[in-house]
Order: sequence, then structure tokens, then C-alpha cells
Amino acid sequence: MSNRNDTSSSLIRLSDYRAPAWRVAKIELAFDLGIDSTEVTSRLHLQRDPAQQEPLRLDGEGLALLSIALDGQPLSDQAWRYADNVLEVDGARDGSVLETRVRVQPAANTALEGLYLSGSREAGFLLTQCEAEGFRHITFFPDRPDVLASYTVTLRADRERFPVLLAGGNPDGSGELEGGRHWARFVDPHPRPSYLFALVAGRLQKIERDYTTGSGRAVTLVIWAEPDAIGQCGYAMDALERSMRWDEDTYGREYDLDVFHVVATHDFNMGAMENKGLNIFNAKYLLADPDSSTDDEYRAVEAVVAHEYFHNWSGNRVTCRDWFQLSLKEGLTVFREQQFSADMNSAPLKRIEDVALLRRAQFPEDAGPLAHPVRPAQYAEINNFYTATVYEKGSELVRMVAGRLGRDGFRRGMDLYFSRNDGHAATLEDFLGALGEANGIDLMPYLAWYAQAGTPRLTARGHYNAAQRAYTLTLSQHTPPTPNQASKQALPIPVKLALFDREGQLLPLHLAGDDADASGATERVVVLDRAEQSFVFQQVPSAPVPSLLRGFSAPVILECDYSPDELALLLRHDVDGFNRWEAGQQLAARAFDNLRDGDANLALDAWCEALAALFGDTGIDDALLADLLTPPGEIELAERERVVDPSHVHALRLKLQEHLALRIGREPLQQRYDALAARTNRKLDATSQAHRRLKRRVLDLIASIDPWGAHTLATLQYDNAPSMTDRLAALSVLVRGNAPQAHAALAHFRERYADNPLAMDKWFSVQTQLPGDMVLERVQSLAQDAAFTLKNPNRVNALYGAWARNNPDGFHRADGSGYRLLGVLLQQLDAINPQVAARLATAFNGWQRLEPARHAAAQAVIDTLAAQPHLSRNLGEIVRSMRH
Ligand code: ARG
Ligand code: ZN
Repeated sequence: MSNRNDTSSSLIRLSDYRAPAWRVAKIELAFDLGIDSTEVTSRLHLQRDPAQQEPLRLDGEGLALLSIALDGQPLSDQAWRYADNVLEVDGARDGSVLETRVRVQPAANTALEGLYLSGSREAGFLLTQCEAEGFRHITFFPDRPDVLASYTVTLRADRERFPVLLAGGNPDGSGELEGGRHWARFVDPHPRPSYLFALVAGRLQKIERDYTTGSGRAVTLVIWAEPDAIGQCGYAMDALERSMRWDEDTYGREYDLDVFHVVATHDFNMGAMENKGLNIFNAKYLLADPDSSTDDEYRAVEAVVAHEYFHNWSGNRVTCRDWFQLSLKEGLTVFREQQFSADMNSAPLKRIEDVALLRRAQFPEDAGPLAHPVRPAQYAEINNFYTATVYEKGSELVRMVAGRLGRDGFRRGMDLYFSRNDGHAATLEDFLGALGEANGIDLMPYLAWYAQAGTPRLTARGHYNAAQRAYTLTLSQHTPPTPNQASKQALPIPVKLALFDREGQLLPLHLAGDDADASGATERVVVLDRAEQSFVFQQVPSAPVPSLLRGFSAPVILECDYSPDELALLLRHDVDGFNRWEAGQQLAARAFDNLRDGDANLALDAWCEALAALFGDTGIDDALLADLLTPPGEIELAERERVVDPSHVHALRLKLQEHLALRIGREPLQQRYDALAARTNRKLDATSQAHRRLKRRVLDLIASIDPWGAHTLATLQYDNAPSMTDRLAALSVLVRGNAPQAHAALAHFRERYADNPLAMDKWFSVQTQLPGDMVLERVQSLAQDAAFTLKNPNRVNALYGAWARNNPDGFHRADGSGYRLLGVLLQQLDAINPQVAARLATAFNGWQRLEPARHAAAQAVIDTLAAQPHLSRNLGEIVRSMRH
């Protein structure tokens, strides 16, 4: 593809931002669609910034220019130049109309950016992906988000091969053409950036629903999928309707076109895309049915449907000035999506899930060679910055600010943000400015969070003075250096806290110097906004146990010298569901440290003791119990190590679970399993889901002390499973235990789901969870399987991604064979799909902290990759950064 560059890439810098010299008021696009060749005619109505003298320059990559005319006159070859992906045109004036006709090749487009073919030549369909810079693969345009234009799009194609023609906007006529062809036109009344352009053409089926907004606007909701998948779209339709209603109720935001289209494709680089009026989804986040989807996948569908819908305001109506502001739409929309999911399901469970993801995906990013601020200062390839930092940490920053303003204040601020920036391309300053101004608060200090990479360490020390009945809490912060950012400043860190007495009762808070109103509440927020600060609580009857950073009020790593007993007390008594779980996580992490160092293990005893007690407690929610019974994951535990041996981490984590299972006892585990199994069903209500979640956890614990017994249970569970959740959980136990029964189950699964790509992805990924010393061979043989292809991102991620990310012990083989396998694969994949290759390459993150043998082996592979002459800009940037 065209973004290969052999020398070191030039960087795009935030500090170089200039307003566009040329804008496009209106674009008229016409497509003559074909699978091998599509012709695109574009008419740009140009506007010139009188203050700038730049010639007209348009982005265009891989375009075959067929004709070019300015204001109706064909241009001579001397009047334009097309080189280095820029078309420069002489003679354009303010008000000029530039017409170009280009040819693109959808079926040859394996990078899945721009216009491409999903599925086979015979049965597949055409679609587009333009974010971030895909529109330049379709036509010549100033392909930057601060150029907002009105779109009129006409599609023409063979009626038999492409019966359905869709583009964003409202329908504006359709009809027949000669030679069995037909046309359809779409007009979008809302100006928008080019990255939100989309079209879809092919043989798709639909389900429809009528929706009326709060103010009475009638909207038709349509979900499109290929014939074999249309039966799995009902859940997404319900989720869409819930999302629309929620955004009206919570933010007062309504949908703004007559029709809202959603399309599912199996060939997609990312999760989904919020194109105006025509959202396009990776099928993985749209299709759902009990027979092929797990409970987690149902929740992911609901969340992603909401996320893309919410973008209509946070992203589309108010978009980003430049790609450095990406978190303006992504962090904000993830936050809105998380709020929605919390409202639809259980708020504490959602918070636990989100923080676990942050720690698994974002903290390691922030601690490694790829660390970057939520608003990066420079990039070579913007697609490399759709990261956990921009998305998940970005959401945490919005959450902090929202917490500071309170529910009503945040809504007031959002109203001002939307109304002031509607139809514009905004910055993070615009966002914090509006939120602050609506509340009379200066939020600009929070900008520092957007500019500074790395996870702050928050240290808390408590001191109780019995004579004065005063408890002094001293907070301090420190952020370790990251690549290109050696020194760090203090950030405003809101710490939500409560104090417990030794019986587990909440104490009223009397903060010295506080106003009388807040005094006596049992929970409050203090803000640490310098390196160190002390807070004195008065009228404290006895030495308290502090519950800090409740609800995870800031994305930091908390270091507090709790005793195991104090953590156990919080685990038993904290009413903040999140902090209760957090106390257990902290205890388990301490227990892990002690196991590693061979120290006396009071933490392990306290953790097992507290959980065994909770296990017998019928008052606790089954899903929360399942989460409490889960120690931190291997990636998270590895983050605590200065030098990492992934196999050792894996073994120690298994030991933790074994201790826990032994302490609870084989018999109580069996009884709980039987009780849950007796209620097995395929219903999706919270209780049924919670039963399945706990059942899976209990079966895992049984497997840690009685593999043979667990395999017998798992085989039975597999055979009788009414849902994918139960079936996959059972299969996973068999595979991870390398049970003899795994073979038959895998063969059965393959046979049963041969025609279901999403289920087949699971068949691939579950096998990447074989024990560490066996998995490499399996990965190699699965790569030769007839059902495997490097052309499908989901399949690549299901095999290589699941192996390299979710089986650290199996990827980080001591002899380096895992790294070499991935290195070779990345080169092959890069030639097909640079975005997917670059993302997969981030599996090397953290390699610098590996123990010496693995460190050397990983370095050799990274160096070999870096020496390749034809890496894409995507993979090239990741590999180069890895060596920071
Ligand atoms: N805006 C999309 C979202 O909802 C992500 C698109 C990313 N695409 C890409 N090629 N980087 O989050
Ligand atoms: Zn998004």
C-alpha cells in the first residue's frame, strides 16, 4: 500500500497546527460502483481563507486520476501536480468548483481502509472505513477533521449485484438506469468532516423499527446484515432504542436525521464506526444470540451500539479540530457509554470491569515504551493512537471532571459545550472551558492530565492522635518518567474517601477547615493538587481504617501501608462495591508478593479467610462474588515486578487460586456448583447471568485443586449447555487443563459452528489458552487450518492476538520461539493490513522489563523487524517506539 516509507517517518506535531487555507462548503459525490473498479466523481465547492496564500492542496492516496476540471474547464497537465499523496492545483479561487474523476480498486484493498470488499467476490458487499484518514483513499479532499462540508452522495450500481445502496444522510430519491443499473441519492443537512463519510452496497437484509424522539421527530431505525446474520440483530436493535432514549433523558440529546442505518460486517479493523447516519459495525459487536454469544459479548454489543450512537453528538455534531484532540470525542464517548452501561446493568460491577480493563490495557501502556499523553504531542501514523490511553484513560479524565462538578453541574457544562460548539471542530480547551464556565470553576488545571503520560503513584499515610482524637491523612504524588517526558508535574487528584472504625462502621467526617455543610457526611472528596498535602479529620473516636479512592476516583496507583487485617476489614465491610473488590485485589497482590519472596503470608491467610466467609454469605450478589473470587490477572501482577518472568507469574497466580480453593473447600465448592448448575438456563436477566458468572468461577477454582473432577463436570456442562456462555466456559476449563476430553469437545464445536464466523473465532481463541509449553505448536497448526486467513482481522486477533495477549506464559517462551513466530507473522501481515499488524505488534510492550534471556530474545526480534526496509508507517512507528 502507499504508506510505506523506507526511511524514518516525518512526525506530525500538535504545535504545528494551522487552520485550513482551503475549506469545502459542499461536496457532490457520485459513485459508479464495481467490485474490481469503482469510479468516483467529486465536485468540491471551495472556500479560501483570504488571510492565507497557500495553493490548493488536496489529500489523495492510491487514486488513479481520470479527469480534472476547474470551474467547468478541463485542466491542462501543467495546471496540477500529484505527488507524495498530495494533489496541487493552480488557479483555484474562492468559490471555485473543482471536479475530479478517479478510479479505485475495492477488491484489491486488503488494508480495509477507504472503499473495500467484505466477504467473497460473489456474495460479499462493498463498504467504506474513513476514520482517521481513509477518505483520501476514495477521492481528493482536504482530509482533516476541521474541514466540514455538506454532503450529497449519489450511488450507481448493477441492481442485481447491489440491490441495497446506502450512504449517510437522508434519502433523496432513487430510480432505474439503463443496463440493469439503478441509483440512489442521499443528502446530509449537517456539515461534517470527511472521516464520517460512509457508503454500503450489496445484498443485505434488514430489520426496521420506528422510533419517535422526545420532541416528536419520527426516525426509522434500520439494521442491515448478510442473510445468514440478520436473525441475530434483534438484541442490537433493542440496545439502540435504549441508547437513544437514555441520551435524551440523561443529556437531552436527540437524533437529528429521518433514518439511522447500522450495518454489520465481518471484515473490519476496529470495533465499529460512527459514520453520520450510517454506523458500520464489526459483526462481533452487533450480532448476538444465546447459541453463539456469551453474556460478556451481549454486554459488549449493548455498549458498542451505545458508544457509536452517542458519537452522533460527542464526535459528529461537535467534532475534533485535529487528531491530537481524538480523546475529546473518544474519551468523552467512552465515559458516556460507561455511564449508560452502569445504568442498564449493575453500576459497581461495571466499575470493576472498567478499572480492570484500565489496569490490564492502559497502565502497562503508560509504563512502557509506547507511553503517550491522552493528548499526544506528535505522531507518525494517527491510527496507532486509537489506544487504551486515548480511550480508557481519556474516559477516566472526563469522569474526574464530572465528579468534581456533580451530576447537575456536569449536565449544565455539557449543555454549554454542545450548544457552543455545535457544527464546529473543537479542542480539549473548548471542552474544559465550557464545563468550567457553566459552573464558575477553573478546570484548566486538568489540562495537565491530558499532556502528561504515565500513571501517577499516590501514596497515603495515616496517623491517629488519640489525645486529640485527630486523624491526619498525608497524601503525596509522584509520576515516573516516560519516553520523551523525563520530568513530571503534580496533577489535581480527587480522592474520594471514607473512614471506618474497627467494627466496620462508617465514621462521620469532620475535616479541619471545612465548611459546616459538608461536615458530618460519611464520604467526601479531597483534592491533592501539589506534591504533598495533609488532611486532618477531627472528632475521630479511635484509629480508623481509611477507604481511599472510592469508586476509583482518579486513574492512579495507590500505595498505602495497610495491614492485611485492615484490607480484610474493607473487603468484608466496605459498602462501596468497587472498594470492597479493590481491597480484595490489594490483599491478593500482597499475597502474590509474599509467595514470590517466600515470606510469611499473613495477606494470603487474610484474603482466603475473608473470601471463604463471603462465600458462605448468601446476602452477596453472585456476580460480585465471582469478581471477588478472581485475583488480579497475570498482566496486572507482572506490572508489580521490576524484572518479569511471565511463567513464574503464571505459576504464582495459580498457587493463589489453589490456596483460595483449598481454604473454601472442595465440598462447599461442589455444593455451590451443583446449586448453580441446577438453575442453568439461557435467559439474559441479571440473575441468570450472575449464576453463570459465579458457576464459571467456581468451576475454575475446583479445577485448581481437582482437575480430574473439574474435567468431568466441564464435560457434562459442555454437553448440556443451553448457551454459549456455559459451553465456552466448560470448553475453556478442558483446554486450559489439557484434559483428554478437550479433543472431542473441540471437534464437536468446530462441526457445530463451522458456518458461524464469530463462533469459529472462539474456537481459535480458546485453543490459544493451552498450557504454556504446549500452545506454540497449536498456534502453528491452527495457522494452517483451512478456516484460518490473514485477511480477516477478527480471525487474526482470535488466533495470534489471543495467544500473545491472553496467554503470557504461552507467548513468552524462555527460548524466544514465541517472539520469533510473531515477528515473522507481523512482516507477512503488514503487507496485507498495516493497521492490524501494528496493533498486534504492541504485544511486545513491556519487553524491556523481561528477565535477561527473554529480554535478549525479544530484542533480537524487534531489531530484526526494525531493520526491514519496507515496513508500513503503522508498524514502523510501533517497532521504532518499542526501542525507546
Ligand atoms: N471512531 C471509532 C470508535 O468508535 C473508531 C474508529 C477507529 N478507526 C481506525 N482506523 N483507527 O471508536
Ligand atoms: Zn468511539
